[in-house]
Amino acid sequence: MAVPRSECLSSVWKDGIFDNKVVFCTGGAGTICSVQVRALVHLGANACIIGRNVEKTERMAENIATARKGAKVIGIGAVDVRKIEDLERCVQTCVKELGGIDYVIAGAAGNFLAPIEGLSSNAFRTVIEIDTIGSFNTLKATVPELIKSAARNPNTGDNPSTGGRIIFISATFHFTGKPLQAHVSAAKAGVDAISASAALEFGPRGITSNIITPGPIMGTEGMARLGNRDAEKSGEAFKHVPLQRYGSVKEIADGTIYLFSDAGNFVNGEVLVIDGGDWRSPSG
Ligand code: HXC
Repeated sequence: MAVPRSECLSSVWKDGIFDNKVVFCTGGAGTICSVQVRALVHLGANACIIGRNVEKTERMAENIATARKGAKVIGIGAVDVRKIEDLERCVQTCVKELGGIDYVIAGAAGNFLAPIEGLSSNAFRTVIEIDTIGSFNTLKATVPELIKSAARNPNTGDNPSTGGRIIFISATFHFTGKPLQAHVSAAKAGVDAISASAALEFGPRGITSNIITPGPIMGTEGMARLGNRDAEKSGEAFKHVPLQRYGSVKEIADGTIYLFSDAGNFVNGEVLVIDGGDWRSPSG
């Protein structure tokens, strides 16, 4: 089913700002990342989305392609971000089919609620491998293309044609610690550290590396796994969010557009938290 533009991005963004650009996204069939990609496609980009499930990923790619006439979106399934060779193969396909990679979203993640006493060493390792090592592998496999893109699109401050940018999707859990989320908190702290180091190492070559940290976002797999349905229905669930509501995937897409567009030229090594102030709330 086609998703209207108004559900993917704010009306402030100009059509065509990502013309001839290519986005590569792991976790691209998921609820948050698919809308991030869809928003970029609306604004002119072509895309390569990566997922575990072949059918789900290919179907999502076809669906995202309906966002704009002439858009090219490829979906590559059966990919395990824990394996660098899987990602290198995807990068080769993306470059062959779409001509390069200008933007990367490292969004693949694994999560479940578990107390430390109920978390086996293997369960902890699994989440570290998917989130932290998977994010590192995504950076490692795509950075040669990002370097080329940044060279084509120099980050001079007044060049509206941007390129050579990566966004990692993280979480706020490790800012404070979070019960039942020791594994994800540790994994995402590692992701933040990778992004900060990448910002310093690749900044001199014109690449920006930033984090987007979604808070409670309606309709996502994360909320389905971590949320409290009864509390959501009664409105109790929102009470700890200073803005008194959950966010939408569109609000994560808007942050993505900002960081990839020339509006975000000088933002590097930052963490953009999009959570309505939730993590700062004493009861958050
Ligand atoms: C305790 C669990 C568990 C659970 C799995 N394990 N689920 N332990 N509680 N609920 C343990 C298993 O028993 C096993 O340990 C180890 O974890 C590995 O499990 P596998 O099933 O073999 O791993 P795998 O098939 O690789 O699956 C990975 C997964 C799974 C993370 C466990 O849930 C998955 O694939 N998820 C991907 C999709 C996903 O999670 N999306 C949500 C993203 S949302 P033993 O010791 O038995 O061998 C998100 C939101 C964050 O990240 C922020 C929200 C605001």
